Amino acid sequence: MSAPPVAEVLLSEEQIQERVRALAADISRDYAGQDLLLVTVLKGGFYFLADLTRALDLPVAIDFMAISSYRGDKGHSGAVRLIKDLDEELTGRHVLLVEDIIDTGLTASYLLRTLAARDPADLAICTLLERTARRIVPTLPIRYRGFEVPDAFLVGYGLDYRQHYRNLPYIGVLSPRSKDGT
Ligand code: PRP
Repeated sequence: MSAPPVAEVLLSEEQIQERVRALAADISRDYAGQDLLLVTVLKGGFYFLADLTRALDLPVAIDFMAISSYRGDKGHSGAVRLIKDLDEELTGRHVLLVEDIIDTGLTASYLLRTLAARDPADLAICTLLERTARRIVPTLPIRYRGFEVPDAFLVGYGLDYRQHYRNLPYIGVLSPRSKDGT
């Protein structure tokens, strides 16, 4: 098997798993006794959701949304379309949007608007990664955050390059050669 085109490991598997356990402990404490629903947007967030929920000490429900967002040469355009909606009702429930990364914040902002319209008791974000360098939406209710990451092309643990490398157990910086297609 050929080595993945990773120039540098930014977050090792051990670092990620330790942080996920710490976030799960915080969530378990904060939502004890509540009806908690974790919502993730496909595809990137599902590795984080799977590890996070297994580390929670709470009864918890999960659900998924899928969206398509148009990204041009200059990144996210802000245009988002809902492709798969939730199965669960949100009314009166405590909802946590689980993301692998908040970058411009446009995706989270769209999702929060959509979810808030369904009258949840509480709505907040848990993101593994945050890249404030590219933020366009200034205020987001990020209640839990794993790591701040630099402005580099990252792959692994849900993050892809042309749909590949999501399954790496660590997060790495994509080798510059890969982006040129060489
Ligand atoms: C990624 C990630 C977030 C979004 C964040 O998804 O999972 O949903 O980008 O970017 P933003 O803050 O600039 O909106 P992506 O659109 O790459 O789809 P994927 O999850 O299928 O990889």
